Amino acid sequence: MKVTTYEFEEHGDDRGILIALEEYKNVPFNIRRCYYMYNTQPGVRRGFHAHKSLEQILVCVSGSCKILLDDGQSKETVLLDRPNKGLYIAHNIWREMFDFSDNAVLMVLASKLYDESDYIRSYDEFLQYVQTQRTEEN
Ligand code: TYD
Repeated sequence: MKVTTYEFEEHGDDRGILIALEEYKNVPFNIRRCYYMYNTQPGVRRGFHAHKSLEQILVCVSGSCKILLDDGQSKETVLLDRPNKGLYIAHNIWREMFDFSDNAVLMVLASKLYDESDYIRSYDEFLQYVQTQRTEEN
């Protein structure tokens, strides 16, 4: 599967570094929502879902964590360990987040407001869903 990551431009000077994220500039969708996870407890693995239409960019703005991506045919694991690295997740991708460092803050930019009906939270249902989508596309 194709994994899309971004190296965001850093505006650095002797005061430190600033990164700006803007819709349709360095983020490929309109940003309707931002949320972040922190204080993640040791050994925690979360996510375990896909979205029917949501697009997201994940940035580990502090510390590090790993993201498992699964399109129903293959899997990839991506390490997010720099605040200037963004991971794009399209719709119809199963994701799990794990190996959070002590100080990890995982920020997510999302293309839509929170909508539970956009979630697929069963892995079996996800596999069936992407299979059906592929059949309809062909
Ligand atoms: P959850 O979906 O369990 O997180 P993850 O799948 O990333 O492990 O979300 C945790 C809680 O936060 C759950 O009660 C739903 C709520 N929530 C919101 O209210 N708004 C949001 O934008 C998100 C992502 C979650």
